[in-house]
Amino acid sequence: MCGICCVVTLSNQHTVHDFFNKDVLSCLKRRGPDSSQQLIKTVSDLSYECLFSGHVLHLRGLMTPQPLEDANNNIFLWNGEIFDGVHVGSLENDTEIMFHRLTLCNSEADILSLFSSLRGPWSFIYYQGSRDCLWFGRDYFGRRSLLWQFSNEVVCLTSVSVYSESGSQWREVPASGIFKIDLKACATSKSLSLTLFPWKYSSTEKTVEEIFISVLDRVSKDLPNYIPLVTNESKLCLTAPVIPLNKTISEALDECQCTDVSNINHTVSVETLQAFLGVECKKKLVHQFIDVLSEAVKKRVLGLFRDKDEKRRDIPSTSTSKAHVAVLFSGGIDSMVIAALADQHVPMEEPIDLLNVAFMIKEQSKQKCTSKKHIDQEIQLDLLSCQESYKNLDVKTDDHLVCFDVPDRITGRAGLKELKALNPLRTWNFVEINVTLEELKRMRQQRVSHLIYPLETVLDDSIGCAVWFASRGEGFISNQGELKPYRSSAKVVLTGIGADEQLAGYSRHRVCFKNYGLEGLNKEIGMELDRISSRNLGRDDRIIGDHGKEARFPFLDEDVVSFLNSLPISEKADLTLPRGIGEKLILRLAAVEFGLTASAILPKRAVQFGSRIAKLESNSEKASDTCSRLKLLSVDEV
Ligand SMILES: *[C@@H]1O[C@H](CO)[C@@H](O)[C@H](O)[C@H]1NC(C)=O
Ligand SMILES: *[C@@H]1O[C@H](CO)[C@@H](O)[C@H](O)[C@H]1NC(C)=O
Ligand SMILES: *[C@@H]1O[C@H](CO)[C@@H](O)[C@H](O)[C@H]1NC(C)=O
Ligand SMILES: *[C@@H]1O[C@H](CO)[C@@H](O)[C@H](O)[C@H]1NC(C)=O
Ligand SMILES: *[C@@H]1O[C@H](CO)[C@@H](O)[C@H](O)[C@H]1NC(C)=O
Repeated sequence: MCGICCVVTLSNQHTVHDFFNKDVLSCLKRRGPDSSQQLIKTVSDLSYECLFSGHVLHLRGLMTPQPLEDANNNIFLWNGEIFDGVHVGSLENDTEIMFHRLTLCNSEADILSLFSSLRGPWSFIYYQGSRDCLWFGRDYFGRRSLLWQFSNEVVCLTSVSVYSESGSQWREVPASGIFKIDLKACATSKSLSLTLFPWKYSSTEKTVEEIFISVLDRVSKDLPNYIPLVTNESKLCLTAPVIPLNKTISEALDECQCTDVSNINHTVSVETLQAFLGVECKKKLVHQFIDVLSEAVKKRVLGLFRDKDEKRRDIPSTSTSKAHVAVLFSGGIDSMVIAALADQHVPMEEPIDLLNVAFMIKEQSKQKCTSKKHIDQEIQLDLLSCQESYKNLDVKTDDHLVCFDVPDRITGRAGLKELKALNPLRTWNFVEINVTLEELKRMRQQRVSHLIYPLETVLDDSIGCAVWFASRGEGFISNQGELKPYRSSAKVVLTGIGADEQLAGYSRHRVCFKNYGLEGLNKEIGMELDRISSRNLGRDDRIIGDHGKEARFPFLDEDVVSFLNSLPISEKADLTLPRGIGEKLILRLAAVEFGLTASAILPKRAVQFGSRIAKLESNSEKASDTCSRLKLLSVDEV
């Protein structure tokens, strides 16, 4: 993951340096620790000036410092990963290739068709020297962060910024398309204006006019009202990389004779899932799903540089070879499936790091630590249907230890057992990351609050902090019964985000289904993918990128989304079935198909509850409230 930033001023009253501060610079450097460069372009006859700042995390091909510039004054900043669509050889760097392809574009339509063809996450900033134009944007799902901030004659773009009480207002660049600023026209008129080229499905019922009206309306809300937003008069669009959601509500009898399904009882058990798999057409579909998801994981674990002779880090690790791939790991169904698929593609001799985060349940004082019995009860409530499988977990009685035995730690350990059974030859590093309230408070103030910004809710705070500590990968691994300090060296962090949104994993989906039936559920699911960029992905990219690591999202691979979008909802989830079976049904079936057991029937537990971070501080808040803790700042060194 890289850090990219650009500042443009349209008048010689300001210099770009007035707007590029050292705090932002140090955040960018953390994202791209392998190379940092600045480039300033002053175009005096038009009196505009641009600063480009590029910070590289080296992952594939040769290290390619940014910004790139060519003889025609074109300049390029790239924070992306091309997995498909444009060919990138295993030793090539995608930054160079994209830049080269861009410089060959002769028209706006060419640029749009290049970005339409890409598969993988990206955000970019491209200065087209010959035309005095600045282009920028984020991929269709918004898997990479980009923020913007405007004043009358200044535009700033950056992967990450800092929160300050007095400070200027940053917003996430909407992942609604790509933007162009005609700097010549703006410098001449001394006022800014943006052109938006929105995404559009290749086939759609809506007319181009309808799409333009709704997208302009949406994006304008994220802009100050003195910045006009227009579209090109010839209605140029990007083509969405996925097909639209299939909202068909199939009749009781599917096209394949699935009558057998009605005989299957609704017990929450692996046997129930096996009974579904006994139905031929179900099984076929599950295998198609496994194939497409497996391919997505493969691209994400192989698309990175592996140097066999690389020097070991000073922090000890138990195995001789070091991990390149880590999984954010709760032991829940999403992370189990990702880990099991990673196992199929990561070279055998390489360990896989499973990052498992737990927050201390109560404050330091030992007496206040919840007693074992109490915790067991809570966990059993959480696991509800799965008490059987977890009855034998040995929860230590020592009070101190019990404090970190949160639900995700317990399911994580059980998940580890299943993965070891799947592949006993693999080194699985189960990294126990224990976070105390004290450390949480310190790191939130120093770092995490800035990364979450401009988001600000209680939920953003909980998830942001949990993911920050988990992806940092600093904890303990068990080596022959002994806990040893460990720091994950993996630069690639796989996360299961996107599964719940597409497969009806949240409890709000059940509410929606109960109240509005399948139609309502379809509508909700369609909306969730539309807003995943602004709800989750920009934030998670900023959080994980802060450790000089790259988040990769197999469930948001374009082919996976298209496959799932092609299926009617009834194939993906069946909310008439109980929790632990009905939601994410197709994923549970896939899990059973490659040999997972108890984890296949775990009900959804959100990270803020599973890791217990939400219990740590305040219990009485609503997830959507503005989080006051994010705004308690002593302006520390960032
Ligand atoms: C990046 O890749 C291009 C094309 O594959 C190659 O020509 C170039 O030398 C690479 N850049 C660096 C800095 O190695
Ligand atoms: C709109 O697109 C057309 C076709 O690419 C181009 O000729 C025209 O200059 C564009 N208009 C503006 C205002 O950029
Ligand atoms: C459901 O089916 C399983 C076997 O698939 C059986 O063991 C169980 O008793 C059944 N439960 C009910 C309530 O019928
Ligand atoms: C972290 O918490 C676990 C309980 O989940 C405990 O077993 C372990 O000893 C703790 N590690 C350290 C270093 O305190
Ligand atoms: C939507 O699902 C229905 C029912 O399975 C199927 O017949 C139809 O072809 C699907 N449509 C698309 C566009 O995939």
